[in-house]
Amino acid sequence: MLNPEDNDLLCRVGPGAPMGELFRRFWMPAMVPKELPVPDCDPVRLRLLGEDLVAFRDTNGTIGVLEERCPHRRASLFYGLNEGCGLRCVYHGWKFDVDGNCVDMPNERAETDFKHKVRIKSYPAKEWGGYIWVYMGPPDRKPPLPEFEWAMLPAAHRWQKKWLYNANYMQGLEGELDTCHTTFLHRENDTATLSPGLSEAHANWQKDGMPSLDVRVSDYGYYYGSQRKMDDDAYNWRITQWVLPSNSIIPQPIFPISSRAYIPVDDEHTMVFGTSFNPDAPMTKKDTDFLETGLGAAPKTFPGTFIPETNKSNEYMVDRDLQRRGSATGMPGVNNQDRAIVESMGPIVDRENEYLGTSDIAVIAARRILIKLAKDLAAGQEPDLPHNPALFGVRPIDVKTRFPDLDDVVIQYRDKLGP
Ligand code: FES
Ligand SMILES: [Fe+2]
Repeated sequence: MLNPEDNDLLCRVGPGAPMGELFRRFWMPAMVPKELPVPDCDPVRLRLLGEDLVAFRDTNGTIGVLEERCPHRRASLFYGLNEGCGLRCVYHGWKFDVDGNCVDMPNERAETDFKHKVRIKSYPAKEWGGYIWVYMGPPDRKPPLPEFEWAMLPAAHRWQKKWLYNANYMQGLEGELDTCHTTFLHRENDTATLSPGLSEAHANWQKDGMPSLDVRVSDYGYYYGSQRKMDDDAYNWRITQWVLPSNSIIPQPIFPISSRAYIPVDDEHTMVFGTSFNPDAPMTKKDTDFLETGLGAAPKTFPGTFIPETNKSNEYMVDRDLQRRGSATGMPGVNNQDRAIVESMGPIVDRENEYLGTSDIAVIAARRILIKLAKDLAAGQEPDLPHNPALFGVRPIDVKTRFPDLDDVVIQYRDKLGP
């Protein structure tokens, strides 16, 4: 359980909130490049960490992320005209470049020199690893881009998608750090359309619903191992990586690997950036078919939006007959099942009334670390991780082995776990 004060500290991400400040020390994936396809394309509304922003790609192809409201009389720059290396407010014509400088003020006489006194809040943005990233922290703390393994690979090795969760980021992240639920929530009676890796994983999850967990804190967050007993006296070990502040990299017995970033839109909404990747080879058509269709697929979203078609308004397409026939939820798709259950907890779950057991130790550890880092930062101690980009490049594993101890598994598979 968490008391309401700590729960607030964990979940609130707006400007000035301790956790909001911690997120503001990291580059965050915020958009997919197709949202800003060409120079001078239409501006796009972007809400991030509780701030309303507008993103645009200027005439030179440089991406700008500005506060949505014009500093003159607060009109929305979403309606602005993106032309001539800047975004022009349509109310009185003030124009801003990607760095937030006011470059034209056609309603003021030149002698007032007013234009040089006005700036709009702007945040640095960069394309990297298939996403557009934004940094919202102090300029003098701006770190290098994080070297996630998938971000360093050629684009053909990865498959990416963005979608909305109607819940606080931590609820989604906690689902990723909770291997135990896979046995229950994701039990299916027909696994024919699962990818080979997910199919094997599903069989392992069903063999042992009481995995024992072991957490090792690290410079980048932690990794935890879950040990499940298999029929043949071996163990199925899944080692999941949690990379601060809200990235999970979860394993499958065979590629692709799945990495997710839970990026707060605000306290009660989250954009998930899902990246599946194969470090050793480009994705095949078969790989991407599994990722786009079938039970393990990322959600299908309404055209032109990131809103999953299967959602609360249609009760996540629950089929009670399917549920009676053995599918735990009767809901189509692993991803949909996760989202349904995370959203069902409410926008910010009441953690004061939980009863946590031994299967929740990884969730508990993540909360403690995040709360400590946010408090440390509020007391003036900056996090080290953002300035060590290579530490982001860790990898999970899912293996069968006779080692009963996590540290022995790590030694055995050291080279597969990344730096
Ligand atoms: S409100 Fe934007 S120029 Fe006046
Ligand atoms: Fe899940």
